[in-house]
This record gives sequence, structure tokens and C-alpha cells, in this order.
Amino acid sequence: MELSYPELREQICDICHKMWQLGWVAANDGNISVKLEDGTFLATPTGISKSFITPEKLVHIDKEGKVLEAIEGYRPSSEIKMHMRCYEEREDVGAVLHAHPPVATGYAVANIPLDEYSMIETVLTLGSIPVTPYGTPSTYEVPDAIAPYLGEHDAVLLQNHGALTVGADVVTAYYRMETLELFAKISLNAHLLGGAKEISRENIDRLISMRQGYGITGRHPGYKKYSGENKD
Ligand code: 13P
Repeated sequence: MELSYPELREQICDICHKMWQLGWVAANDGNISVKLEDGTFLATPTGISKSFITPEKLVHIDKEGKVLEAIEGYRPSSEIKMHMRCYEEREDVGAVLHAHPPVATGYAVANIPLDEYSMIETVLTLGSIPVTPYGTPSTYEVPDAIAPYLGEHDAVLLQNHGALTVGADVVTAYYRMETLELFAKISLNAHLLGGAKEISRENIDRLISMRQGYGITGRHPGYKKYSGENKD
């Protein structure tokens, strides 16, 4: 369903509130951006708690991050360069979400990728989740670090930092973050129980080949083998 501009602003704030309620962000952590039909963007402002955010606080910016419309004194997220690189790399990306979900971020901090193919839903939707190299927040180090991974991944861990997901819309990007964090929790539990048992190669292949049937969009590190996809 196509949302009106005010509804889209509400939806972004709703997802900000969910991120805070889920404990994925503390203080001013996290940011969201959405691409609009005319090629401009809505983004969360820098330095604002995602628990208190309201629609009028979102900033409207162009692709260079220049403010087109914002409340006096509000500037786009300091991580906007990272967001913009996702849109530059991928024509299919309509929303970008960054948060610090604690279990997935534990893996990012320990520099351990979530690359075991052990849980059906994650194999289907995300495949492996790599840790992208360290980058100083707000600098071009971060977009440069993530860019090589965006061709095959809709969810990545940012080393010593947090997680990033992309989607055609903000709900899809949000769901990918939920899937990532839940898989991180399950992986950690499995390791406490002695280690995850990976799915057989044959069954992994079957799952990945079912993506289209389930209507799953986006990229997957194993998908192009089956469909010639992983392109826009
Ligand atoms: P902003 O408040 O500038 O969006 O930064 C929050 C954050 O999480 C930085 O990584």
C-alpha cells in the first residue's frame, strides 16, 4: 500500500520507537533514512533519541545530504554518508536502517560473522551476515567499508559498532534487522549448548532456490547461482 507523505513520516517514527523499545539503541544511537519518489530523502536528525522522535523532527535532504526542509537547528544523521552509499550502490534500496541490537552487535564487537547456515528462516532471507571492516563513524571510512558487501548482502555487521540493513522500504529494512538480531540470539544460544548443527548443502540449496516462491526481495550471497539474479 502506497503511503502518503505524512503517513511515511509516521511510519519512520514508529520504527524508531520500536528500535528503542527493543533495546537496539541507547541515548541518540541509530538512524533511519528513506528514499522518496523524487530522489530526495527523509532521514532521522543527528543527536536525537529514537524514543522521543516525532514526524516533524525528520529532515528532508537531497542526495548530497543538503537540507531541503528541517526544523531550525536539525541536521541529518552524522551517518548519512553510509546511508547514501547504500542508495548509490543499489537502485533497489529504498530504506536504510542502522542500530546497535545488543546480540548482533556483540558479534560485531567480537568480530565474528554470523555465517553459519543453521536456521531455516535466516538461510532463506539473509544468508550469511559478514562483519565489514572498522570505520570511524561519520567518515567515508564507513561507506567505503560496507560498499564491497552491498552487492550480495541486505544485512551487515559493522566491526566494533553495530548493524546495518537495507530494504525496498523501511518496514522491509526493519524486518531484516529483527531477523538479524533474532538469529544472533539463536546462534549464541546454540553455541552455549555446544554449537549449531549446520543444514546440509543440499537442503541449503533447496531453501535458497525457494526465495522467489516466497516473494523474498533483495540480495543473498548464494542466490545468483540459481537465478542469475542479485542484480536490480
Ligand atoms: P546520529 O545521531 O548522528 O544519527 O548518530 C547515531 C549513531 O548511532 C552513530 O553511529
